[in-house]
Amino acid sequence: MKIIEVESYEDMSRKAADIIKGVVCSKPNAVLGLATGSTPEGVYRCLIEDNKKGLIDFSKVTSFNLDEYEGLDGSNPNSYRYYMDNKLFNHINIHKERTFVPDGMAEDLEKECKAYDEKISLAGGIDLQILGIGSNGHIGFNEPADMLIPSTHVTELTEETIKANSRFFPSLDQVPRRAVTMGMGSILKARRILLLASGKNKADVIDRLLQGDISTSLPASMLHMHRDVTLIVDKEAASKISNDCCA
Ligand code: F6R
Repeated sequence: MKIIEVESYEDMSRKAADIIKGVVCSKPNAVLGLATGSTPEGVYRCLIEDNKKGLIDFSKVTSFNLDEYEGLDGSNPNSYRYYMDNKLFNHINIHKERTFVPDGMAEDLEKECKAYDEKISLAGGIDLQILGIGSNGHIGFNEPADMLIPSTHVTELTEETIKANSRFFPSLDQVPRRAVTMGMGSILKARRILLLASGKNKADVIDRLLQGDISTSLPASMLHMHRDVTLIVDKEAASKISNDCCA
């Protein structure tokens, strides 16, 4: 795992946007794997800025998002489709029909999951996957567990994640308990992975991750098995990395 330590959230965002720009410039029809949450918001702002300046062209890009809550449709401000439309897609020249987010409203969610992995394969696989990390080590909604499911699947959210994500909802009760997520196997198939972490509340998990052990109790540790992962971490999130870490 390559580690890039930067000063601030803004620097992390700019660095990540520049890497995405590099990928799209060298492959205009690149397939991007995208994440939601607080972490990539700054990256998306930088990409919008660059797109407006003509520095990046999304007209041939395809995107696949990591996850979506069960039971929320795209008009719900808490859905990840709504997030992506409002924080990125509506402001850049991407073709909406080439932006994919799992459908948390699908009548048959199992079928939706299978179809989602097939769509990724048909698109040629993900060239660059952007990831945030949960403070419990989750990636997408692959929560710590005895076993992890490799393909896209429906999952129960942990209490910790429900609590962490309740900051976006009017109340804790309104946070969906289940979600559709790409599995760790689907994520690890990406050719290149960019993991982003910012802020003090990520310092413990980044320290754990960089101890180097691989365990399903820390889903992000599976990333150690991938040959091309870059972690961009700001000063606060890097503040607990022990010197003897073996990343
Ligand atoms: C979002 C996602 C999650 C987040 C993680 C960190 O699509 O898959 O795994 O990346 O929960 O969230 P933030 O960035 O809000 O700290």
